[in-house]
Formats: sequence, structure tokens, C-alpha cells
Amino acid sequence: MRHVTLLLLALVACRETSHRIVTAARPIAPVEATDLDPAADVVRVALTASRLADGGDFLYAYNATNPGPTIRANVGDTLIVELTNDLATATTIHWHGVAVPFDMDGVTWMRDPIAPGATFTYRFELPTAGTFFYHPHFDTESQVEGGLYGALVVHDPAEPTPDVDIVLIADLADELQPGGGQPHGHGRRVAKWRINGIEDAELSVPGGSTVRARFVNASNVGILALRAPGLLQIASDQGLLPAAVSPERLILGPGDRADLELSIGAEDLTIQTEPYSLNGGDQWGDAIDLLRVVVDTPAPAPAPLAWPFPGGVVSDDPGYADIVYALAGSDRSRTWMINGERFPNVTIESITLGEVAYVDVVNLSPSEHPFHIHGLAFEVLTVNGAPPAYRTVEDTIELGIRDRVRLRVDADNPGDWMTHCHILPHAGDGMMTVLRVE
Ligand code: C2O
Ligand code: CU
Repeated sequence: MRHVTLLLLALVACRETSHRIVTAARPIAPVEATDLDPAADVVRVALTASRLADGGDFLYAYNATNPGPTIRANVGDTLIVELTNDLATATTIHWHGVAVPFDMDGVTWMRDPIAPGATFTYRFELPTAGTFFYHPHFDTESQVEGGLYGALVVHDPAEPTPDVDIVLIADLADELQPGGGQPHGHGRRVAKWRINGIEDAELSVPGGSTVRARFVNASNVGILALRAPGLLQIASDQGLLPAAVSPERLILGPGDRADLELSIGAEDLTIQTEPYSLNGGDQWGDAIDLLRVVVDTPAPAPAPLAWPFPGGVVSDDPGYADIVYALAGSDRSRTWMINGERFPNVTIESITLGEVAYVDVVNLSPSEHPFHIHGLAFEVLTVNGAPPAYRTVEDTIELGIRDRVRLRVDADNPGDWMTHCHILPHAGDGMMTVLRVE
């Protein structure tokens, strides 16, 4: 097994730029995208998707790096991404979690994918601050597994600048192999998580610093159950929570994101993930070290930063739903359905632009499903009939076996939005539908 120890040598985020780039000699952090546009409110990035020559851990990459470059911009900026497809197959980019115009969403059931050798320019405004995720939405399972993904970080200048602002993208190796990457679930192998493509990753930070750790689960099938002493979560899919929370354990299914605030003092810290399977939550086995945070010069731990938390309480449950999505299927038949239908042979449900819609999702199947809606955000109103402990606005929510959730969807973005399970083999085997906003 490789054991990689990488020191992040220059840790202090560059305060001169608005995008807080973390520079490092040999970074654990993903490469930062270069902004090619001089205008302050425009970020223009060039990405090339290609097959890597020497194989190695990854088959494909954006700009020959795994993860793909971290794109940073401020809320309200215009993002322009010129994608060149150097793959032998078609591809697209989907901006997971971002309320983009429909024709920028990277889906291919109404628009052709980008052919080999072709280029396409994505262009849209960034309406919401938070940690987002970009990846192909064509041949998705193998292209994501091959290494095509990266983070899009949208900063809000009203939020404080931590000493270190780092993207931590988790993925599992060999998820396309039989039994590969099944996290403790099928008893065939123990999953090996990587952070930013590195097994046994270490992050070295000076004592006395505050780290904003932006976790993204880019795995095809693996569910993270994060644990760390004093775990403090400040943000989820759609930006800051109403207030910081300290869950004992943080479940992040594929496509999910969460930002942690780490106040580094004199003690090293290990962030672990517990055995947790899509075939039924908790599993036997030991927790796996995901990331070791090593203190290079001990100093008193800083106080938590003054985040402009929005506050707010869970909205009222109206007592009914406009749409019910029932998730069903099985691994044995490799048939996964929403309301008994498999994409693309699905009924398109419509909701009215400018209105609020209530959507129930009920999981009738013997598997967990991270349920994701494109182009829209939703508030979680109830989980198994009871309101959650605090208000969260999400685009991806993990449903355990037999779970039922009620979501409040703001139909503020017109389009034919793909709605699916983010276990990529489930989506590929049919667990996908379309929610129309018109
Ligand atoms: Cu990450 Cu259809 O999405
Ligand atoms: Cu699923």
C-alpha cells in the first residue's frame, strides 16, 4: 500500500486575491484553476478532458490532474468554462448543485453531448455561495470513476477568510470492478478511500490556524460516515447552515458536500469514516482514517470564526405533497425505478415556475439512495414524519432504507431537471426521472 505524506508548506490563504488561493509546494489540495479573464466579476477557465497516457490510478482527467482544478469565484460572478473534449467518447459537464440555466446543465436527453475533438463553452452566473461539484453527465458512471470531477467553490465576501480553505474530494478506487469499492457492504473487500486522489492523506497545518475543510463525496457508490473529535459543520450543499452544528457523525452520500471548520491547536486530528454501506447503513468493521491533520508548530487553538449564519427555522409542513417519488428496485435484477418507471421511459411531473412545490420521496427498496435534483434547491421539511433538528437547504439527500422525506422545492428555475439517485450504477440502471419547472 502506498503511504503518502504530503506537506502543505505554504498554508496561509492569499488574502490579496478575492479567491483565497491556497498555494503549496506539493499540495494535498487540488490544483487551482487559473482565471483567464481580467474582469473582477468574471471567471474564465479552460478545461480539457483527456485520457491519461500512463494509466496510473486514474484513466481520465481534466487538465491532466486529479481531482480536476478547483474553480473559485465569488457569488454573483459570471463563470465561463471552455471545455475541450480530447476523449475518444462524447462528454459534458454538469454543475452539480448550481442553479444554472437549463441549457448549461450538461444533460444530454434534450441536447447532444460534446463530441470527441469538439469544444463547448459553459457560461452562467453563480447565484449561491457554497461548495459545488462538477462532473460529466454522459457515460457518467465510467467517466466519473475514471477521474473526471472537480470542485467549484463559490465564495461570499461577507464570510470570514479562514487561514486555510481546502477542498477535500473523497473517492473510492476500482468502483467498476465486481465488488470493487463496495464499502464494507458485500464482504468482498474493504473499501479504500482516497482524498484528492491520495490514500492515507495528511495535511500539515500550523497550530493556531482555522481550516475550512470542504468535503465532496465524488465516489460512484461509497457513502461516507465522517467522525472526528469536536466535529463542527458550518455548511452543507447550499452554503452556510442556520448555525454551526456538531453531529456525532456526518453521513455524506455520493454527490453530497459539507464544510467543516477545524480549529487547530497543539493536537493532531484524524478524520475517519465508519463502515457504512448502501445495503443498509452501519456495517461491521473498523473505521478508516480518511485524513490526518498534523500540527507542525503547536499553538493555542483559535476561537471559531464569526460566520454570518443566516439563522431561521424549519418551514411548516403543509400536510400534503404535490408529487410522490417512490424508489424501488434491486441489485439482483439490476433494475432501479422511480414510481415503477426506468429512465428514459418516465412520466415527467411538472411544477409551476414561481411557486413552491412539496415533494415526498419514499425509499421502498433494500438499498440507500442519495436523491439529487438538478437546477433547484430544496429544504428538508420532514424525515420519517418529523422535522429535522435544524433547517437545511440541499440538492442531494441520503435516504436510508424505508426512509421517507418531505421536501419543499422552490420552483424558481425553469427547465426539465434530471432527478435521480446519485449512486451512479443505480442511475444508469434506471433510477432517474425528470422534474419540469414551467
Ligand atoms: Cu451530480 Cu445528475 O448529478
Ligand atoms: Cu440508488
